[in-house]
Amino acid sequence: MISSYRLVLLVLAALFLAYTAWLLTLPTPYYNENFVRGRRVWQKYNCQACHQLYGLGGFLGPDLTHVVRKGGKPYLKAMVETGSPNMPVFKMNDTELSDLFLFLRGMDSSGCADPSRFLTTPDGNITPP
Ligand code: HEC
Repeated sequence: MISSYRLVLLVLAALFLAYTAWLLTLPTPYYNENFVRGRRVWQKYNCQACHQLYGLGGFLGPDLTHVVRKGGKPYLKAMVETGSPNMPVFKMNDTELSDLFLFLRGMDSSGCADPSRFLTTPDGNITPP
């Protein structure tokens, strides 16, 4: 005879596994090979030291979660190649720049620059406002 304690534990474990399996089925259209390469470019040049993604990171420069909406790839290219009085110039090749753009596009489609405005859904997830 199984004790009620074990039964509760088994039900919780089953729910955990089912929920995890469901999470893994959620679509992540932006998450592909280029996105991963772009993330490496982001890390290689340490953009995070001065910029935030999803509101997290350095605070010298602005949050870049939605920067691709500003002027697309040409705007990103211009910023990276010319810098500003407070941002260094970065020498990266076209492939790196394209991958970086795809990474930032993924950031834009998957997150929100101000997590403090996130709403909590009844299933415990958070969602942009
Ligand atoms: C040393 C700090 C620093 C680093 C490192 C840095 N930036 Fe910046 N960046 C800034 C600052 C500061 C600004 C705001 C412009 C200004 O104040 O001159 C900025 C602005 C920008 C903008 C324009 C943002 C907007 O909202 O218009 C983009 C795009 C950008 N940076 C991309 C990058 C990328 C990509 C990297 C990494 C390759 C990077 N930055 C690394 C400091 C930095």
